[in-house]
Amino acid sequence: MATALAKATDRTAAAHEYAARIEHVSKSFDGPAGPQLVLDDITLDVAPGEFVTLLGASGCGKSTLLNLVAGLDAPTAGAIETPGGRPALMFQEHALFPWLTAGKNIELALRLRGVAKNDRRDRAQELLSLVRLEGAYGKRVHELSGGMRQRVAMARAIAQDSQLLLMDEPFAALDAITRDVLHDELTRIWRETNLSVLFVTHNVREAVRLAQRVVLLSSRPGRVAHEWTVDIEQPRRIEDAEVAELSVEITEQLRGEIRRHGQH
Ligand SMILES: Nc1ncnc2c1ncn2[C@@H]1O[C@H](COP(=O)(O)OP(=O)(O)OP(=O)(O)O)[C@@H](O)[C@H]1O
Ligand SMILES: [Mg+2]
Repeated sequence: MATALAKATDRTAAAHEYAARIEHVSKSFDGPAGPQLVLDDITLDVAPGEFVTLLGASGCGKSTLLNLVAGLDAPTAGAIETPGGRPALMFQEHALFPWLTAGKNIELALRLRGVAKNDRRDRAQELLSLVRLEGAYGKRVHELSGGMRQRVAMARAIAQDSQLLLMDEPFAALDAITRDVLHDELTRIWRETNLSVLFVTHNVREAVRLAQRVVLLSSRPGRVAHEWTVDIEQPRRIEDAEVAELSVEITEQLRGEIRRHGQH
C-alpha cells in the first residue's frame, strides 16, 4: 500500500519543479485603523518531497500563509502556485465529522476525490493501517483519544492524494508523549509516500525534529527572517543532542524577533 501511495505521489512530483511556489506574497487585512499588513513580500518554494517547517511567534501570520497556500484566501499581492493540485490540510482541531465513524470520515474524502464506491472501504482500511489504527474503522470520533483523532485526521488528509500536505500545529493540543509518537509516524509516512509537507509550528524542537528545512518568520509584518537546512539523519528524537543544539540557535533568533516586535 505504501508503495502504491509512493508511486502516486512520485508521478506528480516528477512532473513539477516544486510542490508550492510562494512569490512575493503580501497579505493585508482591513482593521479599524485601515489595512493591516500581516505578511510582507514572502518568497518561498517547497520542493517535491521536501519537508519544510514554518516557525514564528504567535500572530506573525503562519496560519494566514498556510491558508493562502491552501487557496482558502487570496494574497493582496504576489502569487502562489501549487502545480500538483489542491493541497490537503490538517489543523490543530481534527475537524472530523462526529456523526461519522473513523472509516466513514476517510471514505468521505475518498468519495470527494472520485474513488469508486466499491473501492472506498478497502482504501479507508489501508489508510487506517498506514496510521496504525487498524481497529478503528467502526469507531465514532467521541470513542477515540486525542492522538487517535489526529491519526484519523492524518489518514483523511492523505486520502485526498494531494502532493502537498499543509499542517497547522496539528499536534499542539496533544501531550508530549503522544506528540512524540505522532512525530515518528509522520516522519515514517512522509518517507514512505514522498509527500511534500509544509508544517506550521511555534515549537522550535518540533520544527527541528521533523524538517529538512526550517523557515523562521518575523512578526508584524511576517517576513522570511532566516532559514536553516537541517542536516540531521532521520529518524531523529526530540531529545537528540544535534536537535537540541540547532534548537538553541534557532530559539535565539526567534527571541530576537520577538524582542524586536515587543511580543511575548
Ligand atoms: N481573517 C482575518 N481578518 C483580520 N485579521 C486577521 C484575519 N486572519 C488573521 N488576522 C490577523 O493576522 C495576524 C496573523 O494571524 P495568524 O493567525 O496568521 O497568526 P499565527 O502566526 O498563525 O499565530 P498563532 O501562532 O497564534 O496561531 C493576526 O494579527 C490576526 O489577528
Ligand atoms: Mg496559527
